[in-house]
Amino acid sequence: MRIRSASGRYQVRMAPGLLDLLTVQPGNRLLVADERFADRLGGLPAVLVPATEDTKTMAGAERVVAALRKVGCNRASTLVAVGGGVVQDVAAFAASIYMRGIPWIYAPTTLLAMADSCIGGKSSINVAGQKNLVGTVHPPAEVLIDPDLTLTLDVEQRVAGLCEAAKICFARGPRAFDRYMVVSIDPACDGANLAPVIALSLASKKWFIEVDEFDRNERLLLNFGHTFGHAIEDASGFQVSHGVAVGLGMLVALELAQLQGARLGANALRLHRHVLELLHYLPFPPCRQSRLDPDRLLAAFDKDKKHSREAYAVIIPDDSDRLTRRLLPRDQATRQAIGRSFAAVLHMP
Ligand code: GLY
Repeated sequence: MRIRSASGRYQVRMAPGLLDLLTVQPGNRLLVADERFADRLGGLPAVLVPATEDTKTMAGAERVVAALRKVGCNRASTLVAVGGGVVQDVAAFAASIYMRGIPWIYAPTTLLAMADSCIGGKSSINVAGQKNLVGTVHPPAEVLIDPDLTLTLDVEQRVAGLCEAAKICFARGPRAFDRYMVVSIDPACDGANLAPVIALSLASKKWFIEVDEFDRNERLLLNFGHTFGHAIEDASGFQVSHGVAVGLGMLVALELAQLQGARLGANALRLHRHVLELLHYLPFPPCRQSRLDPDRLLAAFDKDKKHSREAYAVIIPDDSDRLTRRLLPRDQATRQAIGRSFAAVLHMP
């Protein structure tokens, strides 16, 4: 697949064994990799990082920049990132600022990164206790997806990736969502072929990136489930993973849509059922999230950078299953509706 975005054109390749191919190529490059892949990297110079939120910070980016300098990288060098979304964020951010920008290549290792974050070009860094407050748009020169890596993912990682893929396909429209429902797999099924879900999800996201790379209009719809999801991640101290939080966040958004007077259409109802089914595969009790503090959830929702001073910005479906961006007044009535929506999904009092 070729992505033609405003800030760059790049190729996405998918084939078994691509990771091993990537890591035997010598050259003027530095690897930034999830520490769990340490034994897959050959002898190439590498910075190994843990896949935790603390890695995608200014301090994490500085560590990568210092390593680039130490191994003598210059403007002709390439940074190679191997890992999930956290590694991608810190590597892409560092590549975008090192000597005002060097190319980077990305080999995603989680389903969520393969089916969603590997394209789009945005990097996000947590600053001052706020998730994704700082970032750049610096697309990779190339994305190399090795679908064999999905064979070792656990159920939670598969659920997380499927939640994001379902969201992208629903946002793209009824045809993409119908196709998603055909190719989606049972997350408990070890050895399932995830390549069709990855390909469909990326083809659907490609459209958003090509028409609106800078999040002005259409691409904002991909925030469906995210404002609520980020609040859940934050209130859980990042115990709930991003993709799972987005699944829960979509359910909260569907509750809010109904409180705002929408009648869910057939596909929104299918999405609701599908996400609930996915979440039931999680190895922990589905109500673990019930321990989330309602005040902390609302505070985290309140500080999301997508809101304006006057209005909360939320993405919710209309009666015909089309996602719309709604601006709700920042008043007591809206906060109550949002609190009720969180409570309905997370079983809070
Ligand atoms: N890198 C994630 C995105 O741009 O969507």
